[in-house]
Amino acid sequence: MDKETIILAYSGGLDTSVCVRWLQEHHNAKVITLTADLGMVDLDNVKSKALQIGATEALIIDGRKEFIESFVFPALKAGAIYEERYPLATALGRPLIAKYMTEAAIKFGATSLAHGCTGKGNDQVRMDVSVGALAPDLKVIAPVREWGWSRDEEIEYALQHNIPVEVKKSRFSVDENLWGRSVEAGELEDPWEEPPEEAYAWTQPISRTPDNPVYVEIGFVKGTPISIDGEDMPPLDLVNHLNSIAGEHGIGRIDHIENRLVGIKSREVYEAPAGLTLFTAHKSLESLTLSKNQSRLKQLIAQEYADVVYNGLWYSAHRRNMDAYVESTQQNVTGSVRIKLYKGNCIVVGRKSPRALYSHKLATYERGDTFDHRASEGFISIYGLPIRTETRNQTEL
Ligand code: ARG
Repeated sequence: MDKETIILAYSGGLDTSVCVRWLQEHHNAKVITLTADLGMVDLDNVKSKALQIGATEALIIDGRKEFIESFVFPALKAGAIYEERYPLATALGRPLIAKYMTEAAIKFGATSLAHGCTGKGNDQVRMDVSVGALAPDLKVIAPVREWGWSRDEEIEYALQHNIPVEVKKSRFSVDENLWGRSVEAGELEDPWEEPPEEAYAWTQPISRTPDNPVYVEIGFVKGTPISIDGEDMPPLDLVNHLNSIAGEHGIGRIDHIENRLVGIKSREVYEAPAGLTLFTAHKSLESLTLSKNQSRLKQLIAQEYADVVYNGLWYSAHRRNMDAYVESTQQNVTGSVRIKLYKGNCIVVGRKSPRALYSHKLATYERGDTFDHRASEGFISIYGLPIRTETRNQTEL
């Protein structure tokens, strides 16, 4: 009988490298690795390493454009930030990786998928639930969750099986893609301890940021960022560009105690220079173009949307319903926002829109005011009626 084929989500790190051999041994299977490039992956290395360890094939998929356009920008428009802090980089990447995995399973006739998530995190939930949503009949294997080894046991297995173990491995667990960098473990596990400089890679400490601010103008059409300083820029370049300039000015460091889906609190450090800048700019443009009621409801949806993404329910009708709502709110979110990046601060200094609800004629205190001041009198009389009635009828004398 032909050997079973398993598609393994492969990062090139120790865990997933060990998974290749472990799956071959324990499932007597051929292993095809799949590495989704959502930005920041050392591709040459990954491919040769997978093949060297014994993968039958090492697939690399460039998902950067799809990631930004179909996952990141919808989340940006929704204002999706988990617990008011986390822009969801890792959480948004997982459903796309799951999609590529199921597509590969169909193409290569695999009956199982595997990933290197541990049994403690959110990522296992996101992967398993996403695969379940896309292809309910596929089996998902999570070797790391199954084998339950300590780090030393894992290294021992690696050495026995000729799997390269990096000597200068970082003490942190890092996951990164274009939308951000997630860092945990090591001394970060002590919430009292300040994150050491080595935890950061994309952002400068304030002491090393330029002494002069930089101004950036971000152009949006219907909620989607499309230009920088008046020049159209493809989504990928735009995010890369903002990551680098905002990072240089020390913007986007986040230190958060987070509520995981599996019930534990964990200390997470994030870097999201482009994310933070774009959320700030987008929100500011919305303040000019959305009505008060739209803004209020949208804020509630933003929180629900963030929870749904964080909790691995990207492929749910509920998320699609919210996207339809969010999309309809973006109809007039077109215009530009001027941002000043300076010493870790991302400051909105100006915004304009051809669809603004802001009206200078109504707002001004100068000559040219068209607001009918006298009409306020009648408005206040009716508006204050119930409270005057309360006082008259219900105050004990
Ligand atoms: N806590 C974050 C999340 O659940 C990030 C997880 C990052 N994973 C990692 N290996 N560092 O989305």
